[in-house]
Order: sequence, then C-alpha cells, then structure tokens
Amino acid sequence: MCGIFGCALLGDNSGEVLYASLKRLEYRGYDSAGQATINSGRILVAKDVGRIDEVDSSHGMSRMRGRIGIGHTRWATHGAPSRENAHPHLDCSGRIAIVHNGIIENFMELRELLQKRGHAFKSRTDSEVISHLIEDFMRRGEGFVGAVRLTAEILRGSFASAAICLDEPDKIVCIRRESPLIVGIGEIGNFCSSDIPALLPYTNKVIPLEDGDLAIVDPKGVRILDWRTGSAVEREVVEISWSPEIAMKSGFAHFMLKEIYEQPMAIRNVLRGQRIYYELAASMLRRASKVFLVACGTSHHACIFGSYAMANLSGLASYPVIASEFEAQYKNLIDEDALVLAVSQSGETADTLNAVRAAKAKGASVIGITNTMGSSLTRLSDVYIGQNSGPEIGVAATKTFTAQVVVLLKLAMELAKSGSPRSGIDSLAEELAALPSKMEEAIRTSEEKVKHIAMKYSAKGSFCFLARGVNVPTALEGRLKLLELSYLPALAYPAGESKHGFIAVVEDGYPVIFLAPRDSTRERIIGNMMEMKARGASIIALIERGDEELKELADDFIEMPPCANELLYPPIYAVPLQLFAYYTSTLKGYDPDMPRNLAKSVTVV
Ligand code: M6R
Repeated sequence: MCGIFGCALLGDNSGEVLYASLKRLEYRGYDSAGQATINSGRILVAKDVGRIDEVDSSHGMSRMRGRIGIGHTRWATHGAPSRENAHPHLDCSGRIAIVHNGIIENFMELRELLQKRGHAFKSRTDSEVISHLIEDFMRRGEGFVGAVRLTAEILRGSFASAAICLDEPDKIVCIRRESPLIVGIGEIGNFCSSDIPALLPYTNKVIPLEDGDLAIVDPKGVRILDWRTGSAVEREVVEISWSPEIAMKSGFAHFMLKEIYEQPMAIRNVLRGQRIYYELAASMLRRASKVFLVACGTSHHACIFGSYAMANLSGLASYPVIASEFEAQYKNLIDEDALVLAVSQSGETADTLNAVRAAKAKGASVIGITNTMGSSLTRLSDVYIGQNSGPEIGVAATKTFTAQVVVLLKLAMELAKSGSPRSGIDSLAEELAALPSKMEEAIRTSEEKVKHIAMKYSAKGSFCFLARGVNVPTALEGRLKLLELSYLPALAYPAGESKHGFIAVVEDGYPVIFLAPRDSTRERIIGNMMEMKARGASIIALIERGDEELKELADDFIEMPPCANELLYPPIYAVPLQLFAYYTSTLKGYDPDMPRNLAKSVTVV
C-alpha cells in the first residue's frame, strides 16, 4: 500500500530528509511520489507519477526547505496513477496539505457534501476529502488539531494520515485507524512513518500508534490524544534492534510470511470496495450469453472458485479457462454477446492480456479484476474492480489469492441479489464480514502445527492434495505453492478423480493432504481417505475444529475455524497450505521470496 513519512525538524532540511525517507519506503511498491513542506509562510508541493528519483530530478524534492514536511509514495487504489492523484493533497485555500494510506469508505458521500459546500476537488482519490474536511471544520472556527480530530471521527474505513497547516506551521498532526503509523523520537527532530525501516537512520526509539490515536508531532516533542474522546493517552516508547533488512519485513523472516499475515487486512480492504463497480460488473454478467473467466496460475485458481460461487449462488454458468488456451479452445464462441472476466494480480500477464485483446477484437465485453490500478488490464477493461491487496513482493501469490477469491465471491453475491432468496445472501454477507477475524484465527492457530507437519514430511519426494466441490481450487493452489517454492512434483485432484489414475502412485507413506471441512463434501471425502489409507498413504487432513472422527482417521491433522457457509472455506483453508509451502521451502534451505526460474509478473507469452 501507500507509504507516508513526516518530519518535524530542528533544522530546515526537511526536503532532503523526506526524499531520503521516501526512498526507504520504495520497497513497498508505488506508482507516484510527492512531498510538501512549510517554508516562509507557504506550503511547497512537489509530486508526480514515476520513480522517486525521477520526481526529484523534475521537481527538486530533495532541495525543498522547511522544518516541517510530509511525504508519500502512492500505490493507486482510487483513481489511476497521475500527477493530480499523487499525494500530498491540498485544501481549496492551499493552507492545508495531507498524505494518507488506507481506504476511505464513505468518500463519495463526503465528497458530494463538501462539493455542495463549495469545495473544489482536484483529484479522483478518496484521500482528498481529508484536506477539505479539515478546511471545512477550520472555516467553522475549529483550531487545526480540533479539525483533524473531528475529521477522523467522520471518516469510515482505514487511515494513517498526516496533515500540516500554515495556521500552525510548527507541527504535523497524524491520525490512525487500522493502517500502520509509527512515531519516531529523534535527535534532529521527530517523525511519523508507515513503517520502521524509514525511521531507522534517524532513530530507533519509536511509538507504534494504536487505533484511535492522534499524534501531534513537533521538532521538540510528541503528544498523543485519543481522537474519539480528545483526552491525552500514554504510549510506551519502544527501542528497535532490527537490522534495516528485517525491519523492511516488519520483523518477519521473509516477505511471503509477512504477506500471509497481511491477509486479514487485505480481505478487509476487499470488503471496503465500492459497491458501484460490483453492480456494474454484475449487470454486464447478467446480459452476457457466455462468460469466460480468464487467468493464469494462482489467478486461474481464483477463477475456478469464482465459477463455483457464481453457479451456486446465482445459477450463472461460466467457463474458467487458462489464458494461454483461451483462443485455441474458444475462439469460435467469442462474439459481441460474450464476456471475458479477466483476473490478474499484476494486470500485466501477457497471456491474460492477449486473451483479452483477442476477445475485444471480436466485440466481447471485458471485466478486469486486478491488484494494480493503471495496469494494462485496467486500460483494456470496460469495467474493472480493484482488489486493493497492497503490493505483494514475494513471488508466490498469497494475500492476492485470498483477496481475489473474496472479490469473486462478492461479485457472485451481487449477481445473486436479483435471483435467489435474499435471506441466504444476507446471512452469507454477515459471515463474510467476520472472515478477516477467522483468517486471523486460522493463521494464529495453525502455524505451529503446520511447522511441525512440514518438519515431519519435508523429506518426502512428492505430495498430493485432494478436495471436493468448492475446495478443489484451494487444493490446486496448495499444490502450486508447494511445487513452486520447494521444487517438489506435487499433484492435486478433485478427490473423486483420484481413483481414475492417481491412486496408482500411492504406496506406503505417500503423503496425501485432504481438505475436509464439515460441509456437503465431508462424507465422500471420508470415503476417499479410506481408499488412500488402505493403500498405505499418510493422511494429513485440514479439518474443522473438534471433528473427532477425522482426527482418528488422519495421521496428522490441522484444526480450522468452522464456517456456516461453505463458500467461505477456501480463503481460510488456503492459509495452512500457504504456511506448509513456506515452511517446507525454508526447511529445504530455499528462498521462498525468490523461487528459481519464476518472475512475479510474466510479461512474455
Ligand atoms: O499477475 P497475475 O495474477 O496475472 O499472475 C498470474 C500468475 O503468473 C501468478 O498467479 C503465479 O502463478 C503466482 N505468482 C504463483 O504463486
């Protein structure tokens, strides 16, 4: 996601400090950068699309003077990458500047309200409402700090935001809810930052802000209030001993593990996605005579899930197809009534883009689902939905897979609204809202057990993943994670298919991983387990918490949180499989962030 940095210095070299700190936030991924400082009674702004060095050479970021400043690396969610959409954003008068990381859910209604009150917006971002809201409260007599506090109260969604104002030019005011924000206490001044690595050259004394905190950062000190009550709060100063490299990974050994842990947040961001895009996409899907779900690799597995979800919830039949096979298989079926739903984390996968171009050339409509705003896929699509997972640095897709699954589930639910009884959808929606906490629970409760199982089985030469129904795409994804990170020839099948060939491979001790939640597939899965067991296989089962019968049957088991609706199992059951691949890879001495021969984005056919 975006990165923010602010400095309140004893000297007036904030331009140089901000520029150097934004460079340290670069690893998070970004498409534009910018900074604002207060100098001689003015707010100076330098911002643009491109690398920080490019923005510096065209706009002189590092030469900007002033004791107080804020900076930002933007990773577009609302509004394409452009100079206007780059942060910082000013208010109408140019007296307030803000930077923001997060998603403001109610920005559309706030923007409309502010426009009616005479505010002129320059960008298409959700973030710009923050500077105008602060301005609006100040016009009504609030001081700067009070206006930021009132602004925080009416924002819905997630935010880490820092604001500066000419009326009180000696301070930065920061607020936080859900998005990370850390205050640094230094010798040359005080700071705020999205993460620790950017702070380390200046200080190792930090205060991680908590939800509801408002921090007033000036060159000599920091005060923290609770923006919900206005009262002062005490926060502990923590001394950091991390190396810069570990700090970049927030203390995790690898980006992959960090990204596995980021999944609850990534799902929260999907749940915050603007409904209007889902409505538009659903109305296109309803009009289409044929629907193709086109993608590669992990995104293809998400599409298989999407196809199950759309059929089960709304009765819509769709064809999930590997992008590189799309033309060979379906070119004669593509016409103006066809619709291609293309899913690509990067939005740049050549096979997926080629399939989209071929479909467009024949007049088909295109819906894109991607994690990268401004990517080729967003430009080629008639409508696109952002999955808002934040940049994924590990080559293996983790948080972007579970986020794609949830985007597709939301789309299937939107489609279902016109068809099946609303009550089913309403209870699914309620359970979906609780999914991020279930993901947290799945990570927390499974990691140690998975580590133990990975140690027990890491010397095996092959594994097979079996599941039924909506859990099949998760099994395919578990297989892909394991083989790409551990270089093991792993297999995966719908369990019913296992006796049509695979079973010949099974011998004493061959490890078979079953996805066995307590759902409509359970009885038949037990039958498949018995078949494998009878041939000497070692059974590793992902089971629902407290399923004593399966505990008896399996050689090893991992207990997962229960779900009332089986469509919610895939993102939850993906977690232990990601962890299994991660730990098997590290046990074998490989680097899970950079598996051999693979690229994060495959831009060649
Ligand atoms: O960026 P995309 O979603 O289009 O990428 C498609 C595949 O290359 C990708 O999902 C790949 O399979 C994963 N990195 C595997 O973990």
